Amino acid sequence: MSAPAAERDVDPRRYFEAVERDRDEVAGSDPVCLYLETTNRCNLPCTTCPRTFEELEPAANMSWDLFRSIVDQYPNIARVVLHGVGEPLMVPNLPRMIRYLKARGTYVLFNTNGTLLNERRGRDLIASGLDELRVSLDAAEAQTFKAVRGKDVFDRIVENVRQFCALQRALAADAPRVSLWLTGLKETIGQLPAFIDLADAIDVREVHLQRLVYFPDGQGLARAEQALFEHLDEREEALIREAETRAAEHGILFDASGATEPGTSLRRADEQRPWSLCTRPWTLMYFTAHGRALPCCIAPFSMRGYDAFTLGEATQQSLREIWNGESYSRCARSGTANPTENFAMSC
Ligand SMILES: C[S@@+](CC[C@H](N)C(=O)[O-])C[C@H]1O[C@@H](n2cnc3c(N)ncnc32)[C@H](O)[C@@H]1O
Ligand code: SF4
Repeated sequence: MSAPAAERDVDPRRYFEAVERDRDEVAGSDPVCLYLETTNRCNLPCTTCPRTFEELEPAANMSWDLFRSIVDQYPNIARVVLHGVGEPLMVPNLPRMIRYLKARGTYVLFNTNGTLLNERRGRDLIASGLDELRVSLDAAEAQTFKAVRGKDVFDRIVENVRQFCALQRALAADAPRVSLWLTGLKETIGQLPAFIDLADAIDVREVHLQRLVYFPDGQGLARAEQALFEHLDEREEALIREAETRAAEHGILFDASGATEPGTSLRRADEQRPWSLCTRPWTLMYFTAHGRALPCCIAPFSMRGYDAFTLGEATQQSLREIWNGESYSRCARSGTANPTENFAMSC
């Protein structure tokens, strides 16, 4: 029987450290983080995203009942991420979901493409108590934005974020922490220093470089040769250093590790079995909009359907049954087999 999360002192921003020293095929503790795909619908055709190339499940928002049935099983969960593959701001119930989680003290965040961040939604998000709002911008100017994110809406997003930050200031609201995200592509790395300046200009105090997950068959821009950290050359190293200098000058927190979560180290300690460093199967659960349990947020990038990755169904099983069920132990936690062999990314 696994120990409840509440019995452990978990920092929700460093939840990935809440993992047993001796990781076993049976988790000794409950998960500390849930990823909920509040929708798999989207309004952008990003050239890096699996959603653009394949309908992985029928289009849907997660129903309120499914949301409740999942989160009520772990009422003391430290952290809930309200995105999977899809755009969370398209979900009418999103502020209600956030309020529900905040009422019990959960740390709540999501990534957004920022297109729908108007004043009404902005006010709702601030009032909901959301802890973090991560805006995936991927470029410092309109042309590159369109090449990566598929639509000509860069200026609108930048303006949305600028106005959201101004609204926060006017309301003297500390939360949510707002950050800008850039996926590390050969096409975008040259924009990194300007990206830092842009964050400063619209009053965003946090910038993250995230590692590209590339597809096995190399669709769109998500190809191995585009992945920055697979082949970091001198010029790119210099651009990262330049961005670090500008961030320090502006007083911006800049994480250039490339790891969306620090569990995803760029410097792999074990080149033979890189996945063995991954703590996700002992710390988090991921549910699609239909309630399908996947090992993590990387699974959709396999682009080979979900059958090989499905660990359970929240509509038919309890979360504890899934968490320590046969599929989790065999597929996700086995120390010998590569649980992510169908993923192109080296987890
Ligand atoms: C799939 S999106 C869902 C949330 C929202 N629609 C957005 O774009 O922020 C979650 C994150 O994945 C990022 N992303 C998209 N394609 C990626 C890739 N191939 N590798 C790494 N991150 C990627 C997005 O930029 C975003 O920050
Ligand atoms: S990255 Fe986000 S905005 Fe872009 S297609 Fe995927 S889900 Fe939509």
